[in-house]
Amino acid sequence: MFEYLQQLLHYFKHSKCTLYVWIYYLAFAIGAYYLVLLGIFVLQFLNKHIIRRRLDLLKRYGSNSWALVTGASDGFGAEYCRQLAKDGFNIVLVSRTMSKLQAVEQELKKINPKIQTKIVQADFTGNANVQFYQNIFDQVNNLDISILVNNAGIMLNGRVDLIKPKALTDTIDVNVVQVCMMTSVFLPKLLARKPRSAIINVSSMIGFTEAYAGDAVYCASKAYVNFFTYAFAEEVKDRIDIQLFTPGMGATNLWGNASKSNLLGISANSVVYGSLRDLGREVNTSGHWNHEVQSPAMKPLSQSSIFQYFANKIYGISMLEK
Ligand SMILES: NC(=O)c1ccc[n+]([C@@H]2O[C@H](COP(=O)([O-])OP(=O)(O)OC[C@H]3O[C@@H](n4cnc5c(N)ncnc54)[C@H](OP(=O)(O)O)[C@@H]3O)[C@@H](O)[C@H]2O)c1
Repeated sequence: MFEYLQQLLHYFKHSKCTLYVWIYYLAFAIGAYYLVLLGIFVLQFLNKHIIRRRLDLLKRYGSNSWALVTGASDGFGAEYCRQLAKDGFNIVLVSRTMSKLQAVEQELKKINPKIQTKIVQADFTGNANVQFYQNIFDQVNNLDISILVNNAGIMLNGRVDLIKPKALTDTIDVNVVQVCMMTSVFLPKLLARKPRSAIINVSSMIGFTEAYAGDAVYCASKAYVNFFTYAFAEEVKDRIDIQLFTPGMGATNLWGNASKSNLLGISANSVVYGSLRDLGREVNTSGHWNHEVQSPAMKPLSQSSIFQYFANKIYGISMLEK
């Protein structure tokens, strides 16, 4: 190595080129390097969003196996149920509201009359202690669960001292404790299967950006899911496909009507399509191309004081003015 450097220095010393020419060569080489990187990035992006197709998930995780989805009664969760039912998975629907769960169950039976379904009614807030999670597990222990989708989540806006304390703990219960406890309770069963299994933890693009004013608890809860998932993916990746799913705004009830009348609010169908397309291929994905472009752009934007000012106005202190 040292010899090689000496030779290079010797070459520079005795070369007839002026300093300007060498600077020109250097700039050209750096430019070419970044152009190649950009080209690779563009090709990978196009491949992912235009050419890539979903793996044969039923073959990968086992025919006749079950997918368990939390927050199955609405939004992304109901859409995971629809798309996985279409693929041939039996579905366990877990959520709070029985009437909504039954409506989704009826839909699934029409989408794929061959599959079986099971409803587990559960509210992840309040009394959701260790025994509560064990009870959920006991109700489905006889089923060959191959995919666990920890999707249930709630949004919470407002400055922390202006929010009712119960809403604070509810949000942490659903967004944080649920993800950790469902994973912990189901992991031994998923690890013991012969075919591979999968866990999808639904986080948010927000978990990567700088936390912003007015959404402190929600941002922090999603950052938890990101750290948790990255760490335990390393622990079990030999047997289980782990996906940290970090979408941007989707057109669901999470935002009330805001996201539905908004160009950034992508349909639940497209959002979930992106997640399942990348399952078994990447640990982290934001799914839809729109969210993949937004995600890196949001980070510097959310660091700006003007962004924080408006976020605080819209979400944080707006409660003071009511
Ligand atoms: N929509 C977005 O823009 C967006 C963006 C990034 C990430 N996400 C994440 O995506 C996930 C799904 O959100 P979504 O947009 O589909 O929301 P959604 O349409 O409001 O659906 C939320 C689901 O979670 C369930 N849930 C809420 N509280 C619960 C509780 N205490 N116990 C049990 N289940 C409960 C709801 O059940 P009930 O219907 O029975 O109440 C519902 O099925 C969340 O983790 C969210 O943070 C959403």
